Amino acid sequence: MGNFVSFYNSFGSVPVRQEVKKGNEHFNRRRGLYLQLGIPPAMVENCSVLEFGPGSGDNALYTASLKPKLYKLVEGSTVGFKYLESRINDGDFNCASSIELEQCLIEDYKDNRVYDLVLAEGLLPGQDNPSKLLHKMSKYVRPGGVLVVTTATYVSLLADVMRRMLFPFFESDDSEQKMAKLCQFFGPHLAHLKFVSRMTEDWVADVILHPWGRNYQFSVEEAATTLQDNFEYLGASPTFKQDWRWYKELIENNNGSLSDLITQYKSLEINFLNKNEPSHVSDAQMSASIKAKVEVLYNNHHSVWGSADEQLWIGVFNLLSDICAEINDSQPITSQAITDYVTAVKKLLDGSSIEEVDFASFAGFWGRSQQYVSFVCVDENQ
Ligand SMILES: C[S@@+](CC[C@H](N)C(=O)[O-])C[C@H]1O[C@@H](n2cnc3c(N)ncnc32)[C@H](O)[C@@H]1O
Repeated sequence: MGNFVSFYNSFGSVPVRQEVKKGNEHFNRRRGLYLQLGIPPAMVENCSVLEFGPGSGDNALYTASLKPKLYKLVEGSTVGFKYLESRINDGDFNCASSIELEQCLIEDYKDNRVYDLVLAEGLLPGQDNPSKLLHKMSKYVRPGGVLVVTTATYVSLLADVMRRMLFPFFESDDSEQKMAKLCQFFGPHLAHLKFVSRMTEDWVADVILHPWGRNYQFSVEEAATTLQDNFEYLGASPTFKQDWRWYKELIENNNGSLSDLITQYKSLEINFLNKNEPSHVSDAQMSASIKAKVEVLYNNHHSVWGSADEQLWIGVFNLLSDICAEINDSQPITSQAITDYVTAVKKLLDGSSIEEVDFASFAGFWGRSQQYVSFVCVDENQ
């Protein structure tokens, strides 16, 4: 069973709940995302939609509001399934003409139908074999239909990984007390994300307590490579891809936009390190070099996440210092945030408590975490 599903079942909930009641913010945000992905909301009306891993169903509220004719939800965890079942019974997704819910792992899912829109948000990075799962999910998209997935790499997750490594500094035998301490500490970090919608407690559960697996990345490049024989690029959030081709050249049923996506992503990946770094760099060599370093850091982080042993930090400090040296000129804000983090952790290792140490600019360091990419299924008969 997947890493997520077993963690969520033992934790007792799918910790992805969002504040959805603030005016129209939640729906406007989802509409904005759909537009970045090239999906005009009116196009979903009367469509068939299949969603894998809807979790709390907060995002599904918006999709249902667009009035699809069929909305099928496939959730692997028991806790998520029960929560969604109660929401369906409460009428939360009633705008869809027909709603179906099934508890099933994607690995075991069987369906003879194909759908206009297939969604899989927040579930590929962290799977044992994300490429295989993506390939399976892609089979349920009808020719001309759309597939939306999310991706993440250790570059976009570096800020999260650095926060995870602070976990052992929160001491308490009582799990409620520990959660309260974690929320008190990370709440102000999250407050730097002006438009954050996820509940702090759920963020702590999913990012700090969740024992992320050996591999937790699945990149835009890997998703595009998996799909490139049968899909074309539609959109992405953030929208980083450019396309200067003359439309009259696009004469094949598959014009290879995913190979352009891969090439451009490889040069731009470095920009996913920090959402607040204003300068944008296009440098494939630098992106690859930083990517290799943060991958080693991720592999080391598992032991640091489990213990506050000073010796384990030596390798982490060396890697962070190498990263700073490489990005200092092009990404000075990120470099400063990493330096502030190292200074703060050294104070923790010297015996200061996490409550009294100032993490300075690191508190506002947030990467681009997960990205959204949408793809259109090529029609073999055209
Ligand atoms: C991180 S949550 C994301 C929830 C929601 N899509 C969102 O973006 O807020 C991942 C969801 O996918 C489900 N999931 C993960 N792996 C799965 C699998 N192999 N089969 C079915 N569901 C899975 C989890 O139970 C959880 O509900």
